[in-house]
Amino acid sequence: MLNILVLNGPNLNMLGQREPALYGTQTLDDIIKELRERARSLAARIEHVQSNDEGVLVAQLQASQKKFDGIILNPAAYTHTSVALRDALQTITVPCVEVHLTNTAAREEFRRFSLTAGACLGQIMGFGAFGYHLALIALVNYLKSALKSGQSAR
Ligand code: DQA
Repeated sequence: MLNILVLNGPNLNMLGQREPALYGTQTLDDIIKELRERARSLAARIEHVQSNDEGVLVAQLQASQKKFDGIILNPAAYTHTSVALRDALQTITVPCVEVHLTNTAAREEFRRFSLTAGACLGQIMGFGAFGYHLALIALVNYLKSALKSGQSAR
């Protein structure tokens, strides 16, 4: 069983009410419920944490080193501002996939650059909540091929 941490940043707790034309009508609970079902079908287990606090997100990344095989991270607004999250990602060796509900490359200039993506395995954006499923499929595939070839996924 693969253990995956799903980490969501600020304002994602407001999904469902937050700019639904952009972010959709599903709540974060709805999204995570469906993702847990997907995880089961992939022989993975999800632990989910959402926080509006940068320090909590940093602490979660640091603690992931011992507990998780992989991470799915939507840093939300901290994507574009947080050197601390970038440094935390570079400190750990747990592979991470960055997810964005929206295609940030097609939005305001300040959203086009991600400080965190360069410390991740890859990035998926623009597909709404389905992006979390794409990230999970990609991460599980990466972890299983690393296991099969006898290499460490880290
Ligand atoms: C977001 C994109 C960010 O620019 C924004 O600050 C968010 C959500 C997304 O999932 O599309 O809060 O990460």
